Amino acid sequence: MSRPEITTPDALGDESVVELSLRPQRLAEFIGQERVKDSLRIAIDAAMGRKEPLDHTLFFGPPGLGKTTLAELIARELGVNIRTTSGPALEKPGDLVGTLTNLRRGDILFIDEIHRLRPVIEEFLYPAMEDFKIDIRLSEGPRAQTITMPVERFTLVGATTRLGMLTAPMRARFGIVQRLNYYPVEDLGLVVRRTADLLGVTMDEEGGFEIARRSRGTPRVANRLLRRVRDYAQVKATGHVTKPVADDALALLDVDAFGLDDMDARILRMLIEKFDGGPVGVASLGAAIGEEPDTIEEVYEPYLVQHGFLQRTARGRVATPLAYRHFGYAPPTGVQGELL
Ligand SMILES: Nc1ncnc2c1ncn2[C@@H]1O[C@H](COP(=O)(O)OP(=O)(O)OP(=O)(O)O)[C@@H](O)[C@H]1O
Ligand SMILES: [Mg+2]
Repeated sequence: MSRPEITTPDALGDESVVELSLRPQRLAEFIGQERVKDSLRIAIDAAMGRKEPLDHTLFFGPPGLGKTTLAELIARELGVNIRTTSGPALEKPGDLVGTLTNLRRGDILFIDEIHRLRPVIEEFLYPAMEDFKIDIRLSEGPRAQTITMPVERFTLVGATTRLGMLTAPMRARFGIVQRLNYYPVEDLGLVVRRTADLLGVTMDEEGGFEIARRSRGTPRVANRLLRRVRDYAQVKATGHVTKPVADDALALLDVDAFGLDDMDARILRMLIEKFDGGPVGVASLGAAIGEEPDTIEEVYEPYLVQHGFLQRTARGRVATPLAYRHFGYAPPTGVQGELL
């Protein structure tokens, strides 16, 4: 049986290859997210102590914060195999049969973008997750025969950027649910430092801090910016990353001073330029910029709110004075005041 959809992470683009080489190898090497790490450590130790598979585990949070990394770390800590697939890659239950029946006790099946599983696949997974059996249809049509097959007790690890899009029954089947939050700049500083050491980049503290500050709370961004700054330092300076070097490199790359990305900027500009700073409902905002309201809500807003660019009010989204100033506008006087 061929299983083209189930992949091991290779044969990816260049950036991805570097990204893979930067993945921490042990849970202790994973920077920050202390609460998540503590709970995982306990769950892993308890499961190993009982010689039982780990409960099904779900990670959710914005892209690039370490969900896939944690799935791999769990497998390594438990000493089990991990098979990786993703919601959109699975078309029919048959795509999973081979994988599931080949899993050994305690192995991990990692499903990325689990909110994008088709309903038939979800239905197929429920008994596998709960009773460790699968129903296989032997033919098509209404009178099709079905056989039930046991599978080993495995652990499903799911990852999603969109918890709200996961169906309730699927969500209820995870014993461990962990949210990843944006990293504070101190933790990102440690990520940049670690990556610099791995890549053999010399860097002073201020240089590292500047990169961390502009990384949108996201390790993946921090690693990417460091690599670009390194290139710049190599070609335009002595190779050593200092604050002036980082400043020049990031300015050349057009990286926002707060690390805001294109979509962040579109959201805020639209809010200010077309909606007079709000309040505006997230549906109207989404329609105006051509993005789904719940993507805005789950993927972009948390960072903007956390960093004081946007407020959620009962009447809708409001741009803060900080947002106005960031895009070179004078904040309106009145309701929101200047004093935020
Ligand atoms: N806490 C951390 N410490 C060190 N490196 C990290 C940490 N979190 C993430 N990284 C690095 O950031 C990169 C992105 O992490 P990862 O691929 O796990 O994110 P993700 O949450 O799965 O993203 P996506 O939602 O896009 O799949 C990886 O190279 C990883 O090594
Ligand atoms: Mg991932």
